[in-house]
Amino acid sequence: MIACPLIAHRGCAALAPENTLAAMTLTHALGMAWVEIDVTLLGDGTAVIFHDNTLDRLTRQTGFLADLTQQDLSNIDIGSHFSSDYMQERMPTLAQMLMHLSELGLGLNLEIKSYPNYSANEVVRAVIPELLAHWHDFDRLIISSFDTEILKAVRNEQPEWQLGQLWEGLPEDWLQIVNEINAVSVHLYHAPLTKEQAQSIKAQGLDLYVYTVNQGDLAKPLYDMGVDGLFTDNPHRIDTVKINI
Ligand code: G3P
Ligand code: MG
Repeated sequence: MIACPLIAHRGCAALAPENTLAAMTLTHALGMAWVEIDVTLLGDGTAVIFHDNTLDRLTRQTGFLADLTQQDLSNIDIGSHFSSDYMQERMPTLAQMLMHLSELGLGLNLEIKSYPNYSANEVVRAVIPELLAHWHDFDRLIISSFDTEILKAVRNEQPEWQLGQLWEGLPEDWLQIVNEINAVSVHLYHAPLTKEQAQSIKAQGLDLYVYTVNQGDLAKPLYDMGVDGLFTDNPHRIDTVKINI
């Protein structure tokens, strides 16, 4: 379990360029204990920390990650879109990110992205060896994905790892899916979540996390519903002391 009421979404994406090493350093400096980051694959199979499957939103370049290799990363600035202070930031490989987070002592929710250019087995074969090589505290790791096939592939390889199923809204067959992959948590978009759904999830002994909460007034009603933790881009907006969490 994450055991933390606030999780830094993409490493406090409102305060530093998302999914960068610098964002993780800032997250740690702010006293946060857990981060959520996204992992995907380059064309050469390298696992990298990046949310999108194209460069377009977060760089001054365009094109698909599927057309890149690890050698290309040194030429792609993923910090300037946020601020010129971060122009040195490069897309981290999963290995680089795991080593950095380990040094900082942060807990990790690794979200595995599902894009059509690779299969569930391909991504899992790229991600699991890096975790085995560079991560040491598996109580402080949760793997999540919107793609149940990816989570099944992780579960086949790693019977003990903590898995979280991501959905935008809770589907009717949620309990069957959660049981099939033996998930420890359910991760949902906060807006459609009802109190009844939250209660049903909690009644199964599952942890419940919601994304992405950046307005302070949304937080207390969600915690009151039974939500265990919120993914936020900006922890300054959510005063957990004031709302007695
Ligand atoms: O893992 C929670 C959240 O990150 C899922 O959505 O698009 O921000 O990766 P997204
Ligand atoms: Mg994510």
